[in-house]
Amino acid sequence: MEFMILILLVFAVSGSDAALRFSASYGDHMVLQRGPHKAVVWGYADKNHEKVTIQIVGHGSPVQTTTANGIWKAKLPAMTSPGPFVITASSSDGNVSLHDVLFGDVWVCSGQSNMAFNMQSVNNSAYELKKALTFDKIRLFHVRDVESPTPLADIKTVQTPWTAPSAKSVPTFSALCLLYGEYLYNHRKYPIGLIESAWGGTPIEAWSGPDAIKDCSGHARKRNPHTPSVLWNAMINPLLATTIYGAIWFQGEANSRHSAKYACQQPAMVKEWRNKFHHASLGETSLNFPFGFVQLAANSADHSKIGGFPGLRWAQTANMGHVPNPKMPHSFMAVAMDLPDFHSPRGSIHSRFKQDVAERLGLAGLGVAYGEKGLSFQGPYPTSFNTKTKGHLVIEYDHGHTVVDVRAKDGFEICCSATSETTCGTNDTWVAAPVLTHHGATVTLNVAGCHDKHWVGLRYSWRESPCEFKKCCVYGRDNDLPAPAFIRNTAF
Ligand SMILES: *[C@@H]1O[C@H](CO)[C@@H](O)[C@H](O)[C@H]1NC(C)=O
Ligand SMILES: *[C@@H]1O[C@H](CO)[C@@H](O)[C@H](O)[C@H]1NC(C)=O
Ligand SMILES: *[C@@H]1O[C@H](CO)[C@@H](O)[C@H](O)[C@H]1NC(C)=O
Repeated sequence: MEFMILILLVFAVSGSDAALRFSASYGDHMVLQRGPHKAVVWGYADKNHEKVTIQIVGHGSPVQTTTANGIWKAKLPAMTSPGPFVITASSSDGNVSLHDVLFGDVWVCSGQSNMAFNMQSVNNSAYELKKALTFDKIRLFHVRDVESPTPLADIKTVQTPWTAPSAKSVPTFSALCLLYGEYLYNHRKYPIGLIESAWGGTPIEAWSGPDAIKDCSGHARKRNPHTPSVLWNAMINPLLATTIYGAIWFQGEANSRHSAKYACQQPAMVKEWRNKFHHASLGETSLNFPFGFVQLAANSADHSKIGGFPGLRWAQTANMGHVPNPKMPHSFMAVAMDLPDFHSPRGSIHSRFKQDVAERLGLAGLGVAYGEKGLSFQGPYPTSFNTKTKGHLVIEYDHGHTVVDVRAKDGFEICCSATSETTCGTNDTWVAAPVLTHHGATVTLNVAGCHDKHWVGLRYSWRESPCEFKKCCVYGRDNDLPAPAFIRNTAF
């Protein structure tokens, strides 16, 4: 009996393999990338060298392609009309259609549990669930957690097929991804397609393809789903041919014990994703597509704990403290270290306050991914240091352009060195450098704390959980954004 069922199953699967159809990552209600990019559609046909014709019904002339190894792939004309449209693929075998297809911007949302953290767990979830249902021009697609030792051509299992937000689809969908999509929709006013492909607890190696793994060799884990490339193979590779606008990423907790290496790993992963999405989409996904990420949030309720998070936050910026920068071009970031939720029922690492995170990421996305002019989307960043007055350090932010709001005296530390006049060594100690005054774009610190030792470095917010909710030391007065964490190990 079981044997019979097995045979039938195999037959059914190979039978459906043969027919003319779209890839598993396409479906009714989907969003395809809008112009000036051209959306790529692809699928299967039963014969090689089979002619397949794709048509946006009632819109322009059909596109012809030919299957190779059972797969066909074609670019549609660039579309700026949002739709909805019907898209039909036909061959000598008949035809298949996608209904209710919109054209808008497609974003991939990836990472670990803070990206997977879903809408029913977010703060004020009843309100958020109801609100999400009003965004019928946002469409969701949720890839199920799956790993593979080899690259898969297609999505193996779909958690949620393409759908408008619904009472069924929203509660289990990524809160950050959807709230970010809502923010974009409210500002861009055209459809937004969101592809969630994220898995809790997973390290960056699992999401990195072979090129990125090669670029940053070393420490490799073997326990699935942590093995290098297994999630790249199963949850990213099958999406590469889809034209996308950009990607957002909330990941790094699982790498915080090896934070120095992350400064190589994240830029390497982004570079590989960009290269491979670009090529597989026949050049339609930008080779420099925007990449947004969340800098690690707070976790431990012990405010004195340092741990691996500060180093990982720094590495997320490729050790430059802010993005975009030459090593992380066309990238944008939301700082989240000042949004702790120590009483989260899902554990303090899973803050329920994803609204603030999504808003900060959305704002930075408008500035970087959409190039909207005149937006202030970054927290203050120190650009010069003046040590003329003994015992004082005057920090100037953003070349004097940002008026700072100082909400606490504490947050800065200087390195006291007994041995070196130029660098802070591993045996040297950090002591508090409290804020004395602030004025306009400058903050003056008391740096007399090293007494008879040299002070040779400065760091800011260098704690796993540096402050209470929105109560870190330095913010931009006009944009309410926190200054990101900062470290410098050398003398001024
Ligand atoms: C698709 O197939 C149906 C049924 O066989 C047929 O009526 C229809 O004209 C076909 N459409 C296209 C675009 O080929
Ligand atoms: C959490 O939600 C409540 C409403 O249920 C709201 O009053 C509160 O401001 C929210 N907290 C944060 C930090 O967003
Ligand atoms: C740090 O201190 C330890 C123990 O006192 C010593 O063995 C080591 O050489 C010191 N390292 C540096 C870089 O000074």
